[in-house]
Amino acid sequence: MPSQDSIARLDSLRAQSRLGGGQTRIDQQHSRGKLTARERIALLLDPGSFEELDAFVVHRATDFGVADQRYLGDAVVTGYGRVEGRLVFVFSQDFTVFGGSLSEVVASKVCKVMDLAVKNGAPVIGLDDSGGARIQEGVMSLGGYGEIFLRNVMASGVVPQISVIMGPCAGGAVYSPALTDFIFMVQGTGQMYITGPDVIKAVTGEEVSHEELGGALSHASRSGVAHFAVEGEQECLRQVARLLSFLPSNNMDDPPRLKSSDDPKRLTPELSDLVPDDSNEPYDMKDVIRQIVDGGDFMEVHEMFAANIVTGFARMAGRPVGIVAQQPLFLAGVLDIDSSVKAARFVRFCDAFNVPLVTLVDVPGFMPGTAQEYGGIIRHGAKLLYAYAEATVPKVSLITRKAYGGAYDVMSSKHLRGDINYAWPGAEIAVMGADAAVNIIFREQIAKASDPEAARAALIADYREKFANPYIAAASGYVDDVFDPRFTRAKINAALDMLQNKRDTSPPKKHGNIPL
Ligand code: HXC
Repeated sequence: MPSQDSIARLDSLRAQSRLGGGQTRIDQQHSRGKLTARERIALLLDPGSFEELDAFVVHRATDFGVADQRYLGDAVVTGYGRVEGRLVFVFSQDFTVFGGSLSEVVASKVCKVMDLAVKNGAPVIGLDDSGGARIQEGVMSLGGYGEIFLRNVMASGVVPQISVIMGPCAGGAVYSPALTDFIFMVQGTGQMYITGPDVIKAVTGEEVSHEELGGALSHASRSGVAHFAVEGEQECLRQVARLLSFLPSNNMDDPPRLKSSDDPKRLTPELSDLVPDDSNEPYDMKDVIRQIVDGGDFMEVHEMFAANIVTGFARMAGRPVGIVAQQPLFLAGVLDIDSSVKAARFVRFCDAFNVPLVTLVDVPGFMPGTAQEYGGIIRHGAKLLYAYAEATVPKVSLITRKAYGGAYDVMSSKHLRGDINYAWPGAEIAVMGADAAVNIIFREQIAKASDPEAARAALIADYREKFANPYIAAASGYVDDVFDPRFTRAKINAALDMLQNKRDTSPPKKHGNIPL
């Protein structure tokens, strides 16, 4: 039986540990508009579920006057708990202790929860708010980052890893979040950059603010580093929980299927008039997504980046699915560098974590031009092709309108192991659009005609009749069925039901060589 004294000592140490760097620094943290590491954990996890580890760890550094500045737990709070009843591991950097900087022992604490997460098959969530490597610890800190990076890579594809940037995340420290599956950033306070504005000014003369350089909106819309930019810490953590609800705990589990009150065979008559007669006129593909998924509930990933392709999670008949869809509203839904990379990474995530893929295709082809060619559209486009070909999860696609050229092959086609490929009756599957095709193959004939415009129009009509429809592909079995848009939800659900126990493999290899 522990003595009264020992219990009192424990209580006092716990109270000390809960205060992190002390009340003054907690107040400073609040005055910066930020919550503390512990307040964030409390918001993320189910009430009362947090089990803290390593609360008594202290740093071991002795130089630069830090020997007498030891805080229980040092600059990170770690442990495990539940989100909607499901186990997760969490580390939350504590900015009140040395600016949340990473000491040798902070790294060991983080590595401990990462190892536990992999052994026990549960997601790891990192809440980042840190000045980076603990300057006073030099290479011990850099080594600590290296240990974390290694674990990020080893855990990749084994358990979902989610980073939430709620304060600074600078220098090489950005590479831990970068290696994880999803990055959330809090608008206004979360910032990520390799070098800050001062160094940039000194080296290149360029002047830029912290927020413009590495804020949530910059990374969500321009660099594509952040998948989600959310206003406010509380809402951000709520969105993390929402994302987790679509994901399995590890790569051996299926994603959690919920009961859905939305009839899986519900008709979707709203889709009948959605696609305009003029095949160059845009429409909103998100209308299609919202109509076909359970309750219209769609969690978009990378919403602000490469808007010509849409990626995100939804449920169909209660089962989580990953949706990839062209967006004709932006750049006519063309495949370019950014959209290829965005979709490729999403497809690979879904494949790694057993999330079936539903692909909605309306693609005029790859983006032409020197900017794209010099930027490497060939190797970037190949990433998406590779990702679809490699994926062994159930793959269902629907061509709503155009599927032209190489992009037809790329977008989950039968040739890349697509399982079920559908088309609406107005779909055009061809090497290219009718206008361009006729101009190439009948150039001379049109030039010699007495009325070239009439000749061109007739040839275009003829081409459309022959090629720009789904029935040639359907006659070859490349398209499994053509149906009225009203049956879209029912048909996709039927395919997903059929594929639910799908097993497929690839040849044994160490790993493939995706064109990075
Ligand atoms: C030790 C640090 C620290 C660090 C901040 N602090 N960063 N202590 N090592 N890296 C301490 C400060 O001394 C201060 O302590 C307290 O944390 C709060 O910091 P402030 O500067 O007062 O806060 P703020 O004004 O909000 O600025 C936050 C900041 C700034 C932007 C993060 O502190 C900063 O620029 N820090 C250095 C960032 C950096 O360059 N890190 C190294 C990156 S390289 P007191 O006691 O005064 O309150 C890197 C390599 C990783 O990380 C390698 C991986 C391969």
